[in-house]
Amino acid sequence: MNNPRKIYQTIEPQTTIEGAGVRLLRSIAPKVSNLFDPFLLFDHFAFNNPLEGPLRGFPMHPHRGIETVTYMLEGSTAHRDSLGNQGLIGPGDVQWMSAGRGILHEEMPRRSESGNIYGFQLWVNLPSHLKMSEPRYQEVNASTIPTFEKNGVKIRVVAGTVDGVSGPVEDIAASPLYMDVELAPASEWRFPIPNGHNALAYLFHGEGIFADEIVSAVRMLQFSNQGNHLHVKTENNAARFILIAGAPFKEPIVPYGHFVMNTIEEIQDTLRELRSGTFAQ
Ligand code: FE2
Repeated sequence: MNNPRKIYQTIEPQTTIEGAGVRLLRSIAPKVSNLFDPFLLFDHFAFNNPLEGPLRGFPMHPHRGIETVTYMLEGSTAHRDSLGNQGLIGPGDVQWMSAGRGILHEEMPRRSESGNIYGFQLWVNLPSHLKMSEPRYQEVNASTIPTFEKNGVKIRVVAGTVDGVSGPVEDIAASPLYMDVELAPASEWRFPIPNGHNALAYLFHGEGIFADEIVSAVRMLQFSNQGNHLHVKTENNAARFILIAGAPFKEPIVPYGHFVMNTIEEIQDTLRELRSGTFAQ
């Protein structure tokens, strides 16, 4: 591992209002340019001030053609959908939801006892042959996510394999890696990223040196495609980030609201189904 991936782009997350007035930090969003293929969107929910008023959450909305990955660190998200599924994504839990041909769902964040909400939602694309597949959930309880620590580096593996340890999320088209990585001060970590896979790191705490560049939280980093591994180290501060990587589908995309399809016609069909009440039936 002598060729670390360089930072291609550093993105400062922007405050965005979504759902029924939920304030969040958004670093990437679906665009025709599809620069982060197979990843589409990354949102960070962080409410630390109870004076922000009642949480209104994300009332019933449709999804098609994508997967949504919700990871909570503090507080929880109550969800229910048009198919009759419901549950609570608690602290440390992950919900990997493949919307496929369609679901309508509601996502309602709830504060922890100390009043905080802290979590993330990633959207992963589906390849064209799976966009109209049956909706599917992988609900992962915090206790089933493998966590290990080595030389000051603590890793929770949600999807993918690290040092022979595999995360519980399986059978995802993008062969994704999704990990929560925490480096203590004065630590170093090298991790192989498969050739051709796109890799992003969302640094949400502390300061790290990624391929010789110092980066302070909060930033989304997109890595170049050249190189065979990721190299991160810390000096005086700790660093904690979500590392995601996956195989690009290299297909054209047409995003529209909560839908991401391959053609405008498929978006028009989706809107027709919504109007006629046949969506997610
Ligand atoms: Fe949603």
